[in-house]
Amino acid sequence: MRSLRFVVLLSACFHAIALDDSTLGFVSGQWSLSLEGTTGVSGMQLAVVSETTAIIFDKVEHNPLSVNGHPAWSVELNLVTKTVRPLNPISNTWCATGSFLGNGTFLSSAGQNGLQAIRLFTPCDDGKCDIFEDQNTVRLTSDRWYPASVRIEDGSVLIFGGSTALAFINNATINNPTYEFYPPKNINGFNGLQIPSKFLVDTLNGNHFPNVAYLPDGNIFVAANQQAMILNWRTNTETRLPGIPNGVRVSSPFSGSAILLPLTPENNYTPEIMICGGSTVSEDLPPENYSVFTPTSTQCARLVLTPAGIAAGWKVEFMPEGRIMLDLIQMPDMRILIVNGAHTGVAGYGTSFDMVGNSSATNPAFTPLVYDPSAPVGKRFSSAGIPATTIARMYHSTASLTPNGTIMMAGSNPNQDVSTVEFATEYRFEFYSPPYLSQPRPTYTGLPSTVNFNQKFELNVDLPPGTASVNVHIMDLGFSTHGVHMDQRLVKLVSTLSHDKRTLTVTGPPSARHYPPGPAFVFVVNDKGVPSFGHKTLIGTGASPPVDLGAIANLLNSTTSNWPTTV
Ligand SMILES: *[C@@H]1O[C@H](CO)[C@@H](O)[C@H](O)[C@H]1NC(C)=O
Ligand SMILES: *[C@@H]1O[C@H](CO)[C@@H](O)[C@H](O)[C@H]1NC(C)=O
Ligand SMILES: *[C@@H]1O[C@H](CO)[C@@H](O)[C@H](O)[C@H]1NC(C)=O
Ligand SMILES: *[C@@H]1O[C@H](CO)[C@@H](O)[C@H](O)[C@H]1NC(C)=O
Ligand SMILES: *[C@@H]1O[C@H](CO)[C@@H](O)[C@H](O)[C@H]1NC(C)=O
Ligand SMILES: *[C@@H]1O[C@H](CO)[C@@H](O)[C@H](O)[C@H]1NC(C)=O
Repeated sequence: MRSLRFVVLLSACFHAIALDDSTLGFVSGQWSLSLEGTTGVSGMQLAVVSETTAIIFDKVEHNPLSVNGHPAWSVELNLVTKTVRPLNPISNTWCATGSFLGNGTFLSSAGQNGLQAIRLFTPCDDGKCDIFEDQNTVRLTSDRWYPASVRIEDGSVLIFGGSTALAFINNATINNPTYEFYPPKNINGFNGLQIPSKFLVDTLNGNHFPNVAYLPDGNIFVAANQQAMILNWRTNTETRLPGIPNGVRVSSPFSGSAILLPLTPENNYTPEIMICGGSTVSEDLPPENYSVFTPTSTQCARLVLTPAGIAAGWKVEFMPEGRIMLDLIQMPDMRILIVNGAHTGVAGYGTSFDMVGNSSATNPAFTPLVYDPSAPVGKRFSSAGIPATTIARMYHSTASLTPNGTIMMAGSNPNQDVSTVEFATEYRFEFYSPPYLSQPRPTYTGLPSTVNFNQKFELNVDLPPGTASVNVHIMDLGFSTHGVHMDQRLVKLVSTLSHDKRTLTVTGPPSARHYPPGPAFVFVVNDKGVPSFGHKTLIGTGASPPVDLGAIANLLNSTTSNWPTTV
């Protein structure tokens, strides 16, 4: 349990303002780690799509699992039975991005040898759903490899950046310094076509997989390489923020990881970003000159995204060890788990003069760290009680919270194809169970299938003895790839517990800017920091995002497709 909360608040108020929630503790103690099975394809990209299933994308390679007579590169994983069902995308999902649309359909876009691909997957309960893909009628405007994406307030997705060809690092020749929407929009005169972004020119070269987050004022935070900005997509205006402190590069191949800290009524939903890890190495070396022993950054930097917060600048803290290709996972008790990655090297494979196997990184980060944003500076990182894994998860690895409150880790493959040489293609997946899972947990029923903004609804709760109060957290578990987590988010809802502690009256999020309409997992967390199972709902009405037929016609008419592709 946390103690002396009030003292913390007074002594470090600039840090505490954004997060403090004095009703919430956390469970300390022993974590457990379990090896659960294999994913059949390597877990390069991971998104939980229902209470019991996750979708995984790999690249096209000689995986052990097959579908339609060829090696599979995508599966649906059942988190309960730990079994996989192969899926059958047509194009190569290598280095694609992913986000959910407002109606709950998952959108995979871009990739290698399928650069303009849009792939749609609507989760199902009958084990029959597969990926829809037809680039003749549904495609991006332009080739994108290593782009990012973010769901916006109308339930559509903005796809940002990337390059037009395979490369270790971006450069001016292959850069695609634009963004676009799915479904396409007629906006700012572009009528369905890609919209230029100067930021993506100014952040060359190391700006693959930018870190993006949707903010409660309807703008988008972006960090790439050593810079950060706010994008107003309505007007296509970029406002630069103070650069990442100490010259740390935070996007691929110097992959740091960013997270939007929890938005709560107590902090007035004030957005604060934290970015950890990365590298200060030069971005201008020939690819072969990056050693696997290149030092990585220990830095975690936080910026409150208000005029006062921006004026105050980034606040810097340091992890015990440097990390690259790390994952920052929001936990339902408001803490953040830092897993995966490497202590030295850079992202990618097949480049370094001293590569290990084909890996451009070594010294895998085996020991997770928990970051408690509300603890005093200097006391926020801890590995206490967390067993180290023995599985290297570096390039092309992933991690996600699951609806049950465990943290899943999958993948790692710093190789061109399947390899058994160190560092081998990794199919095993693991779960960390935080100590809250060994406590009596809150349970609830009555979650509506959709929760609209400001809509009041009632949950029937069954709380462990001794529970004094509860929080209701809606969480977007996001999409994980390359240490980037598209759309990951925790928003605390306003709620009131009845006197008999059996009924919880909850109010939906204040607006579509606070939580863009789309899937959410709802955790009822008691004052000791023990979360319920996170049942799934759709925030908003479940409606599909707006479709502009004129913008789609113009896109199809003005762009050509590299479809059909052979993979
Ligand atoms: C959730 O986790 C608990 C504790 O580890 C376990 O007993 C239970 O089977 C899990 N439930 C599901 C649906 O995964
Ligand atoms: C940009 O990257 C491409 C693909 O790796 C490469 O062929 C080209 O030489 C690079 N251009 C420059 C200017 O570095
Ligand atoms: C790259 O490494 C080679 C071999 O060590 C060296 O000769 C060259 O100067 C290096 N290039 C740069 C730009 O550091
Ligand atoms: C590295 O990758 C190349 C190209 O795929 C392959 O020929 C070579 O065998 C790999 N080396 C190791 C040690 O895996
Ligand atoms: C969600 O919207 C997309 C884009 O219009 C559409 O392709 C998809 O079928 C919709 N999904 C559902 C479940 O209605
Ligand atoms: C498609 O493009 C052609 C030539 O640029 C133009 O004449 C035609 O009106 C366009 N059609 C649509 C549906 O935009």
